Amino acid sequence: MPNRLSTDIDQAVTLLRAGGVVAVPTETVYGLGVDAMNPVAVERVFQIKGRPSDHPLIVHISDATHLSDWAREIPEAAYQLAAAFWPGPLTLILKRHPSVPDAVTGGQDTVGIRIPRHPIMQALLKRFGGGIAAPSANRFGRISPTSASHVWDELDDDVDLILDGGPCHLGLESTIVSLVGDEPRVLRPGAVTLAALRAVLGFDIRFVRGDAVRVSGTLESHYAPRTPLFLLAPDQLAKEAERRGTAGERVGIMTYTQRDWPSEAAQAMMPDSPEAYGQTLYATLRRLDQEHFAAILVEQPPEEDSWLAINDRLRRAAAGR
Ligand code: TXA
Ligand code: MG
Repeated sequence: MPNRLSTDIDQAVTLLRAGGVVAVPTETVYGLGVDAMNPVAVERVFQIKGRPSDHPLIVHISDATHLSDWAREIPEAAYQLAAAFWPGPLTLILKRHPSVPDAVTGGQDTVGIRIPRHPIMQALLKRFGGGIAAPSANRFGRISPTSASHVWDELDDDVDLILDGGPCHLGLESTIVSLVGDEPRVLRPGAVTLAALRAVLGFDIRFVRGDAVRVSGTLESHYAPRTPLFLLAPDQLAKEAERRGTAGERVGIMTYTQRDWPSEAAQAMMPDSPEAYGQTLYATLRRLDQEHFAAILVEQPPEEDSWLAINDRLRRAAAGR
């Protein structure tokens, strides 16, 4: 094992205090963590990711009592959502506190804040004492890592340490809710569903696809494998697999219904519940991507609220095809 892969929380704290970059496990995906109050360290994250500097980072904190250190004019809805979903896979966009570095917010007047649930990340945040700014630990535009080895494969010695917290339980990035502007809205769907948000808020909240400013996760063709990926209705999928098989192409098929496929096709059988599907989605895409198929054909999951986050990521992975 490379010695950069570790479970030593104290070592991670020491590195963070010294301006180091530590890959951290969360229940959603692995993050590329730095001291949120250190603009030089934050800058390194942008360089490692290859991410445009006006794309803001999420600040991870240990508990909601610190919310007012990072945000101002915090609406009641923020406390309601915090009580219901933190620690957990929810990011709130709030007006920033003046002390939050521009490097973190991309110069915007808002800041994204989340309290993650993963026990190692919780312990790290408590011992570190401050906020950890962390985007997903992948290169810009690529698939988020859901295990320490994904981070290792992709970022290697660009990071100072990878805290190994095992495979991520949820596997999809957090739900992002904006509480600035005229009305609350979801900028990125995740494990906290629209129905769950509605139940807490007591009013309707919608996913506003792609109209957000500089939310890189809302760019089309984000979360993309290198292999061309096509999202197809179940009956179309069978036809397309047949057509490509006849043409002698090797294709990967991601399906959640059992069927016979052309012998040249490799099948990834996906779970038929959105929770289990989400947990394994990115690892499956990474694995299929390494097979150098001519194409990855994905069976379109149901168009239901519970599948919203998965359909969103699949749509982006397929964008431009
Ligand atoms: O689950 C997650 O949210 C993971 C883990 C590591 O916490 N993080 C994550 O970070 O997905 P990232 O940077 O890959 O995606 C965060 C998204 C980006 O699209 C960013 O533009 C958006 O959140 N964001 C951050 N701050 C924002 C702000 N102030 N206003 C609007 N969007 C913001
Ligand atoms: Mg990301």
